[in-house]
Amino acid sequence: MNIRLTVLAGDGIGPEVMHEGLRALERVAKIGGHRLELRNGLIGGAAIDATGEAFPGQTRALCEDSDAVLLGAVGGPKWSDPNASVRPEQGLLDLRSALDVYANLRPVATHPALYDASPLRPERLHNVDILVVRELTGGAYLGEKNRTADSAMDVCSYQRHEIERILRMAGELAGRRQARVTSVDKANVMETSRLWRSIADELFCAEFPQIELEHMFIDAATMHLLSRADSFDVIVTENMFGDILTDEASMLCGSMGMLPSASLNKDRRGLYEPIHGSAPDIAGRGIANPCGMILSVALMLRYSLGLEEEAKLLEDAVYAAVEAGHRTADIGLPDTPPVSTQAMGDAVIAELG
Ligand code: IPM
Ligand code: MG
Repeated sequence: MNIRLTVLAGDGIGPEVMHEGLRALERVAKIGGHRLELRNGLIGGAAIDATGEAFPGQTRALCEDSDAVLLGAVGGPKWSDPNASVRPEQGLLDLRSALDVYANLRPVATHPALYDASPLRPERLHNVDILVVRELTGGAYLGEKNRTADSAMDVCSYQRHEIERILRMAGELAGRRQARVTSVDKANVMETSRLWRSIADELFCAEFPQIELEHMFIDAATMHLLSRADSFDVIVTENMFGDILTDEASMLCGSMGMLPSASLNKDRRGLYEPIHGSAPDIAGRGIANPCGMILSVALMLRYSLGLEEEAKLLEDAVYAAVEAGHRTADIGLPDTPPVSTQAMGDAVIAELG
């Protein structure tokens, strides 16, 4: 097939991990006999420097005219002045809104080869296979904001249809897994959570009677994620809770650098990005872990292009490389020098054959 993609490498380690993601994609495309059409666009700090805007119209036009969008990372100290009128992160939020990718899928599955990279004891890591479904285009990150010298506000609001569509996505995905959904909220305090909870009860009763639904407060969820991660199947939650919970969950897998994400809209056209940020502290040194980016490419093959076989091939190659001992510093083995970003990419490509 012909695959038309927009590539937004972004800032910091974004371009470094993207380089490896694209090399792996090219190899898989060759194996599967697919033709790639890649167009590069600017986003985040790189776009601010070039155009004054974090998500320029030209980038938006490219993204809207693509089968899928690949993104590295945005942000960095250069653009972090709290009084700046435009920030790189706003570009990412605008991109997500423009594509209406309301469903952010973040798979968190542990792998025995990486138990030693996790701060948790191995017995807490067995059989962990969670899919976090984070609402991505609503809540406080996208709500009305205001700031004066002495006050500030970020409005967290949700409409019924926004809650219904993300819960429905979670229900459908759970139907293809263990048929259990944990809906995470703060319904003891927040009105948005109380609406969320009542819609979840209605919707699962009417549309997903075969799926087991439980509710959990966000504070309790952060704890249970560490003490009994293997008890979760699908976790569905609002934007900010999902952002926080997935950084925490990544430590079950050894490192933030390992986790991919898929952000889908109603047509399953999507945006694919690792969950990590631009990591300015290590940017430009060629030591970042490209696995989260490569695994995001695999999610793109699966969810937007329907190429399950190719997706699996790439995922297996990543874990085979990791198992064989190729490790960037974030997942490094004791007494073994870590490999570079590029060497990690090479190892994955070698496994692809
Ligand atoms: C993420 C990131 C972003 C978010 C930032 C960079 C805006 O933390 O994808 O998790 O909060 O969504
Ligand atoms: Mg985050």
